[in-house]
Amino acid sequence: MIVVAGSSSTDLAQEIAENLQCDFIKADTQKFPDGECYSRVNALTLNDDVIIVQNTYPDENLIEMLLIEDAVRGLGAKSVTLVIPYFGYARQDKIFKLGEPESAKVISKCLAMGCDRVVTIDIHKEDTLKHFGLPYKDLKAAEAIAEYFRDKNIDIVFAPDIGAKARARSVGERLGVPYDYLEKIRISGTDVRIKPVNLDCTGKNILIVDDMISTGGTIVTATRQLKEAGAKSVMVACTHGIFVNNTLDRLEGSNLDAVLSANTIASKVSKISVAKIIARSLKEW
Ligand code: R5P
Repeated sequence: MIVVAGSSSTDLAQEIAENLQCDFIKADTQKFPDGECYSRVNALTLNDDVIIVQNTYPDENLIEMLLIEDAVRGLGAKSVTLVIPYFGYARQDKIFKLGEPESAKVISKCLAMGCDRVVTIDIHKEDTLKHFGLPYKDLKAAEAIAEYFRDKNIDIVFAPDIGAKARARSVGERLGVPYDYLEKIRISGTDVRIKPVNLDCTGKNILIVDDMISTGGTIVTATRQLKEAGAKSVMVACTHGIFVNNTLDRLEGSNLDAVLSANTIASKVSKISVAKIIARSLKEW
């Protein structure tokens, strides 16, 4: 096995290679003067099972992934596995309004042309991966999140909406604490409302777990609600810290007590590593 890192995921790819005790190459990716992507995998041959680690977000990373797939094929890869820590476009997984594309399907089909199997972490909906028409696995970051918070005195784990309930259960059970979900009503892209909480939060240390933080609207509203319900502290952990624009600064300046994310998207708060989970799954496959 050999791990090839795209530029979105160098540190994570290196950590995966260390866990697999295999070689690691970072693709040399640059921009042509006109802004087009140039990528090169600097090896004489790659007669091996190749693991490419790269996000498909933002768009330039998607292009880089497509180019690296072709480059490793050209170098003779025996098989190509894509590890896509954060799968961009996964949220547009159906036609919400007439005339829209199924973006997640389009991206999956493009990527499938250059690989043999695919691994994602907490993809928005696992069914999206069926569009690859190839073997796939969607791994969960819950184990790594629970491990990180094991000694942080968490009393209750919350999901910010019913869709994330299984994640709250998975983390809550691992920590041996109660878990629940909040009822979220999305008014617009940035405006969300949350119904009052049922569990008694008075004096409790709360952990909110979510698959992603984008604008932070969900988390800010959930935190306000939990603090109003008497919570002593509210920390949040997500798998994918997208943090558009100045969201991270805004969250750090809010009444949240801590913001953490997994390292599917690198940032100053991506301290929860999913490398072991990915390496273990690749070994078992
Ligand atoms: C929603 O389905 C997701 O689980 C997240 O709660 C949501 O995408 C977060 O977005 P934002 O940070 O913009 O509220």
